[in-house]
Amino acid sequence: MSHLLHLDASLRTTESRSRTLSARFADGWRAAHPGGTVTYRDLSADPIPHLDEPAYSSLFVPAEERSAEQHAARAFGDPFIEELRAADTVVIGLPLQNFGPPSTFLAWLDRITAPSTIGALGDTRFVFATASGGAYGPGTPREGWDHREPLVRHVLEFLGATDVSFVNVELTLARVSPQMIPLDLGAEEDRSFQAGLDAIDALAASGSLVA
Ligand SMILES: Cc1cc2nc3c(=O)[nH]c(=O)nc-3n(C[C@H](O)[C@H](O)[C@H](O)COP(=O)(O)O)c2cc1C
Repeated sequence: MSHLLHLDASLRTTESRSRTLSARFADGWRAAHPGGTVTYRDLSADPIPHLDEPAYSSLFVPAEERSAEQHAARAFGDPFIEELRAADTVVIGLPLQNFGPPSTFLAWLDRITAPSTIGALGDTRFVFATASGGAYGPGTPREGWDHREPLVRHVLEFLGATDVSFVNVELTLARVSPQMIPLDLGAEEDRSFQAGLDAIDALAASGSLVA
């Protein structure tokens, strides 16, 4: 049976573009997969603690040799890995923060990068629904400053994923930021958002790697 893991990482609870896009993907996915199931996790409202030494070292120690601390660490950490492995599709709403992914998402990434997932996610489809206040595409003054997509793509390649899509909505601060308001980019923001909605709809309707 098809299973979707839906994650969000925006700290905004209203007007979040990445949440709007990831929810829209989940709705489209449900329509395309009658009988499919969904797990939802809000990495901002319910942040995962950073990986610590027992959590990391316990990944490399056989169960029968683990300390009590390491057993507790695995009892806490394994469900994040199992949740990911149970999904054939993962959609992640991911804002840009300080030119990279939010630390709440990186804490999840540290939890799910493990011997059992490295090179093992070839059958998992990933869709990233991203939002940024500015724009970083070709020809922009800060072209290349968005380190989020390259970082995420490299980690997922390390994990073996090959079906990775990004839908980027930009300029969300065009009408808000005092530095950006004079640039009069509101119409560009609207165009970017509409293009993002269209791209998400197309991805939700298209098939995943796993039947
Ligand atoms: C702590 C923080 C850091 C941010 N850093 C950046 C940044 O480096 N570049 C950028 O374009 N926007 C930045 N933003 C703006 C967000 O990317 C933008 O508001 C985006 O729309 C947030 O996603 P959301 O609409 O899903 O909430 C930052 C926002 C916050 C809260």
